[in-house]
Amino acid sequence: MAKAAVETRKAFTPGKIGNLQLRNRIIRAGCFEGMCQEGSCSDRLIEHHTAVAKGGAAMTTVAYCSVAQEGRAYGHEMWMREDLMPDLKRLTDAIHREGAAVSVQLGHCGYFASKADTGHQPVGASRKFNLFRMSFPRVMTEGDINAVMDQFAKAAVMAKQAGFDAVEIHSGHGYLLAQFLSPYTNKRKDMYGGTLENRMRFPASVVKRVREAVGPGYPILVKMNLTDGIKGGLEVDDAVAIARRFEAEGASALIPSCGFTSKTPLMMLRGNVPTMEMVAVQKGWSKKIGLLLFGRLMVQTYEYNDLFLMQDAMKVLKAVKIPVVLIGGICSVDNLDTAMRAGFEFVQVGRAIIKDPQIVNKWQRGEVLVSDCDHCNRCIPEMDKGGVECVCNTKGPLIKKRKGVGPEYRA
Ligand SMILES: Cc1cc2nc3c(=O)[nH]c(=O)nc-3n(C[C@H](O)[C@H](O)[C@H](O)COP(=O)(O)O)c2cc1C
Repeated sequence: MAKAAVETRKAFTPGKIGNLQLRNRIIRAGCFEGMCQEGSCSDRLIEHHTAVAKGGAAMTTVAYCSVAQEGRAYGHEMWMREDLMPDLKRLTDAIHREGAAVSVQLGHCGYFASKADTGHQPVGASRKFNLFRMSFPRVMTEGDINAVMDQFAKAAVMAKQAGFDAVEIHSGHGYLLAQFLSPYTNKRKDMYGGTLENRMRFPASVVKRVREAVGPGYPILVKMNLTDGIKGGLEVDDAVAIARRFEAEGASALIPSCGFTSKTPLMMLRGNVPTMEMVAVQKGWSKKIGLLLFGRLMVQTYEYNDLFLMQDAMKVLKAVKIPVVLIGGICSVDNLDTAMRAGFEFVQVGRAIIKDPQIVNKWQRGEVLVSDCDHCNRCIPEMDKGGVECVCNTKGPLIKKRKGVGPEYRA
């Protein structure tokens, strides 16, 4: 491919989040790796993130680490605990040796939790039926809410001790904190429900508690929703107010995303719906048949466009002073430039780095201008098959459109 004249582009200049200096503005987005069998931190997970660090990203994000054993949606998700520390230290050391920083996404999945994997009844803001789990959660008491605040604070301190340079609090995608923010799932009548002020109380307190626990300057990124994509869910105006509140409570940077895993799972990604591949990884015939029959209702198609969240994310950008990280469909040097020109100080990149962990170096050297990720989304079911990887790299690109399952992709 022809070498483009690469002048010093802002995306490749150093930037700061909190007191953390990053070598450039490109962060690998939290993309669940599926490499934590029995909740462990495996060598494969370390190798995966080391490759990202070698590939030039300023910071890589270890995805979904629950703050509690019972906050997991699957048995192969990590949860923060003392006996994990030596392996987490090995992971952070390995990434630092490559000159990159590393963050960990801390979350609790609330009513998405799997009783089969955790042995606990899932908890939620309200008694709302969850199609994803086919169950009702137990409504959280004030004691439960305080306990989860403690768990977030403790998990963040442990992350810092394990050598993570930052934590990312997951307050989007329909996870527990988003379940409190969303009027779709939060029907509470107490001080944690009703008005936006009340719905924000728990997630805002988590940010505050984490800030108090980790001290000033330590980077706390917060991933949050612009919209849930559900009738009666969170909308952008609320998101702007939530962003301001997170900033006031001590967030160092915000990552505006969208979608609700149990209702609009591909909204945050867009592109092809890999129905057959998702059916294949379901455990049990009833789930396979359910997904085959009702998949179109549960997993809708969203058209992919580069920078698909930029317009709404600009509303958050204008409302806060801390850095806003643009996520969603960043696939080219051109996209990086557009994001930087619009005022985003950082970007997070998911699938383009899964496709090619070296893409950041290649963009920087001008060897490649556009990622060849075709958003077939077949990397997603790979999470449940032993570890995320780009299926196009191993099995070739998705060339043909299967009837009714999304747009056609180039070879
Ligand atoms: C395989 C895969 C796993 C993902 N897992 C997570 C996750 O654990 N937490 C999260 O917040 N987002 C997750 N995401 C969403 C990404 O962080 C990101 O929001 C999305 O991929 C859009 O960015 P992209 O267009 O650069 O891929 C995942 C995405 C992919 C492709």
